[in-house]
Amino acid sequence: MKRTVLSAAILLLSGMALQGAAQAASDEPIQPIKPPASINVGMVELGKKLYFDPRLSKSGIMSCNTCHNLSMGGTDNIPTSVGDHWQQGPINAPTVLNSSLNLAQFWDGRAADLKAQAGGPIANPGEMAFTHTLAVNVLQSIPGYVREFKMVFGKDKIDIDQVTLAIAEFEKTLVTPNSRFDQWLLGKKDALSKDELEGYALFKDSGCVACHNGEAVGGNSFQKMGIVEPYKGKMSDGRAAVTGKDEDRFNFKVPTLRNVEMTYPYFHDGAANTLTEAVDVMGRLQLGKKFTKDENAKVVAFLKTLTGDQPNFTMPILPPSSDATPRPTPFK
Ligand code: HEC
Ligand code: HEC
Repeated sequence: MKRTVLSAAILLLSGMALQGAAQAASDEPIQPIKPPASINVGMVELGKKLYFDPRLSKSGIMSCNTCHNLSMGGTDNIPTSVGDHWQQGPINAPTVLNSSLNLAQFWDGRAADLKAQAGGPIANPGEMAFTHTLAVNVLQSIPGYVREFKMVFGKDKIDIDQVTLAIAEFEKTLVTPNSRFDQWLLGKKDALSKDELEGYALFKDSGCVACHNGEAVGGNSFQKMGIVEPYKGKMSDGRAAVTGKDEDRFNFKVPTLRNVEMTYPYFHDGAANTLTEAVDVMGRLQLGKKFTKDENAKVVAFLKTLTGDQPNFTMPILPPSSDATPRPTPFK
């Protein structure tokens, strides 16, 4: 009897502590990442295969994972991507981790959501250089895929809509909860060191949170690059390419800072190799603030606490091609 009362009291207390932590977390400009809600497991498994399948490219060697490597923070860690026939890409590949939290996709936000985005690279001549028709023909010739698409979508024929839907569903699972910073937000007060906490205070007090906030610490607005001082790197038009408005020139989707220690190099042109450099540029160009070496190191220390649990799954084994599968043409 006594025991029940005691454990009920403990339950009540821990419930209160949790509530208190949730309260405190909601007062902060950054919120903890939640695990993905309501996903279709069959579709995720299919989307995972497609994400890793290089047969969706003309060369037969390039998959989504080539440029958004899930072993490297969902990026390629080079300034701008390498496309079909070793073409030099125009812009840095953003991470796919937590991209479901973005207000739109791409640096200029030209794709509304993950499904709208996923068809782009397959047919982009500078990326996978295929066509949607050819990609669907390849999939339709692979009995393992035909079976799995039918199981998931209940239709006899594969189409590009199903392909992009499945990839997008898989991408929804690529969130990274449980970073040390999130543990701190949720009440584990010893999750961060003194330097990291001072870095977070600098991040807030200097005004970084005006643009980098919310669950993804970014990804939820378009902002000008170079507010106080112009950016000296290779500039593209940014958001103006979509809206055609002059005032949107040099506006970019604010990148997420989740897992930022893994997603180097930084900025749309990939010109900043280190976090130290990126923080220095941001302070000066966006806020007119020159951080001391010590302050910069603290902000960087804070940013490194944003690395969360990375996607963790068994490597998907892809169904083999059949005799009827069109063969890749890497050298044409
Ligand atoms: C050749 C390299 C390359 C390949 C292959 C590639 N991507 Fe990308 N991806 C990029 C680049 C570069 C960008 C940024 C383009 C821009 O913003 O104009 C990007 C942007 C994205 C974004 C938007 C992220 C954000 O924060 O805006 C998502 C999501 C994405 N890719 C998913 C995929 C998927 C899914 C595939 C496979 C179907 C794929 N990518 C294949 C290079 C690649
Ligand atoms: C006015 C909005 C704004 C403010 C304030 C701001 N940023 Fe940014 N931040 C951006 C934009 C926009 C980009 C992308 C710029 C580009 O790629 O050209 C960016 C990019 C970054 C990047 C590179 C991320 C990547 O993946 O490429 C880091 C790191 C960063 N900011 C940190 C900070 C820090 C630290 C502060 C405070 C000192 C700060 N930002 C203040 C808007 C802002």
